[in-house]
Amino acid sequence: MSAQQPSNALRRAIEIYNSLEELSQAAAERFIAASDVAIQARGRFTVVLSGGSTPRSLYSLLATEPYSTRIDWQKVHFFWGDERSVPPIHKDSNFRMVRETLLSKVNPPLTNIHRIPAEKTVASEAAKAYVEELKSFFSLREGEWPRFDLVLLGMGPDGHTASLFPDTLVLHEATSLVAAPWVDKLKCYRITLTPPALNHASQIVFFVAGPDKAPSLREVLEGSFRPETYPAQLIRPLDGKVTWMVDREASAELRPEK
Ligand code: 6PG
Repeated sequence: MSAQQPSNALRRAIEIYNSLEELSQAAAERFIAASDVAIQARGRFTVVLSGGSTPRSLYSLLATEPYSTRIDWQKVHFFWGDERSVPPIHKDSNFRMVRETLLSKVNPPLTNIHRIPAEKTVASEAAKAYVEELKSFFSLREGEWPRFDLVLLGMGPDGHTASLFPDTLVLHEATSLVAAPWVDKLKCYRITLTPPALNHASQIVFFVAGPDKAPSLREVLEGSFRPETYPAQLIRPLDGKVTWMVDREASAELRPEK
């Protein structure tokens, strides 16, 4: 079963930065701008954070002057795009990475931290619990989707994003908010927001750096639509905007800008 070519015109912007440092600074400014707009409009800012290692520099930057004092952390609500099926103190935990780099320094209210309860021994139970968290927070009725103000995503060298890995059934998920796919290449379960849960966001930012991402970034952005192979191609906000913020190394195989 192949994913259908999406009909919605994709509003996509690609921004290339000279270094991870410059990329992180620009992403911090975008985070601040998005939080200002959301808090001004609705008194809160809902952000989905990515795991992995690339965003560590961004999260650390947000926790330091002058960035940290430009955000009203009391009104920021933190969600995760995916999580490894491990306890929050595990070295591989995306929550732990965010706690160490950001949360432990800006100290938002504990009720603002909506982590995936990946300590549950059965990953599908963690996914179910996260669904309930989302439904409760966003007061979702059956069939409704959360509209996050900002979703930050990374991309692996294989073109995966969140825990949407190539050739996994979750790529076709159209009704659930959260899934707990078995990732055969990693021999482990993951918990992840599904493509539709991500695509209802108001704004999605990919944050990609390093030479190992260049081949898949070229395929994702300039190749044919093959989401089974390059799941990041599934990320097409229905009426939002997707921005690719990449460093020069990751962009090395993209066509030169006209
Ligand atoms: C995870 C992430 C994952 C990550 C990519 C890129 O749990 O690992 O959510 O989707 O964003 O694997 O990771 P790097 O940015 O560390 O290369």
